[in-house]
Amino acid sequence: MSMQSELRQLLPVEAYVSPDWFRREQAELFGKHWAFVGMAEDFMRAGDYRCVQVGRHSLVVLRDKEGGLRAFHNSCRHRGTRLLEGSGNVGSVLTCFYHNWTYDLAGRLIGVPQEREQFPGLDKSCLGLRPAKVAAWKGMVFAHGEPDAGPFEAWLGAFPQKLGPHDPERMVEVADVLYRVRANWKIVVENFIDGYHLFHLHKHSLGDGDFTRQRWEPTGRHWTFYRPLKEGVTHDKLLLPVIAGVPSNFGAGAYVLFPSFCLYETATYWLTFNVIPVEAGLSHVHVRTRADPRALERQALPMPPPDQMPAHIIAAKGPHASMRILPKDVHPLESNNVTLEDVYACEAMQAGLESAGAAIGPLSRHESPLPFFQRQVLDHVAA
Ligand code: FES
Ligand SMILES: [Fe+2]
Repeated sequence: MSMQSELRQLLPVEAYVSPDWFRREQAELFGKHWAFVGMAEDFMRAGDYRCVQVGRHSLVVLRDKEGGLRAFHNSCRHRGTRLLEGSGNVGSVLTCFYHNWTYDLAGRLIGVPQEREQFPGLDKSCLGLRPAKVAAWKGMVFAHGEPDAGPFEAWLGAFPQKLGPHDPERMVEVADVLYRVRANWKIVVENFIDGYHLFHLHKHSLGDGDFTRQRWEPTGRHWTFYRPLKEGVTHDKLLLPVIAGVPSNFGAGAYVLFPSFCLYETATYWLTFNVIPVEAGLSHVHVRTRADPRALERQALPMPPPDQMPAHIIAAKGPHASMRILPKDVHPLESNNVTLEDVYACEAMQAGLESAGAAIGPLSRHESPLPFFQRQVLDHVAA
């Protein structure tokens, strides 16, 4: 499908470089959408929690005593202190370190030190943690900062029907890598949905793909893409085994849940690709790769020693994390590695757009997803 009528860049250069534009996106765009938090297995036991920033909302998602997932604003009801950081297990209660106000896993305030003497007549029932919304789908957990947000299913719409036969809940995590990319989050998403660069930047690294037969379609605000393999190519000789229930000639499916949560599916792996805005010119990309359980029987490549870790890797773990990491002395454009090529391209585009003389020209037919995506951004952040 193409969008010939709008086959041009819609966002101004400012949208990629301006801190003011970035602040407006945090409030008007990210703060009004669902964000990926983690996988259900991050919340196995009561008290397991993960913090997530959703626009200007700092949230904590946790597993409660009854086995349900809950999301709260990560701010104490005494004087507003952030309650938790990162991820872990809080045990059976949440206690603010500052003056030890204590909440149960349902967010109710249950303990105030020196209550009778310092807060006579306090009504604790009005001082529970402020709730946010949480949803689970296909083993993935999402949160929304606004308690009256519409249902998650309505936001997904017909998106689930566009995915491949992959069942992430029957796969195992083999790599968890957090990347630092010195580029605006939209450059990273636009690189993910740009079908034109596949022919050029990834000519060798994605050489098994038949780019001429790639196709994409919008689904609500979201975007789905499929690229078949060239005739005769299958993926059964690679490091990871073909996933049970997925044809060995599956090719690649790439999907974006607006604004910035992406999925990527092949015959041998399935991954979440979460683009996290940090600053106008800086993003973190959290990539969690799952594979058929038989992948754990395969010998993994060794990890590079810490001093050989490339600068764009913030953290990496998992039995096959090394497949996503090349030693740092390889030039990205000679690496034959899709991720390195993409990181390099995104950072180079950011650097070019930050130049005072930057101006954006026409788009190709294979870049038609870009104006579609940019239209959604503009609907929230007026130029
Ligand atoms: S701010 Fe949390 S207990 Fe005082
Ligand atoms: Fe790419």
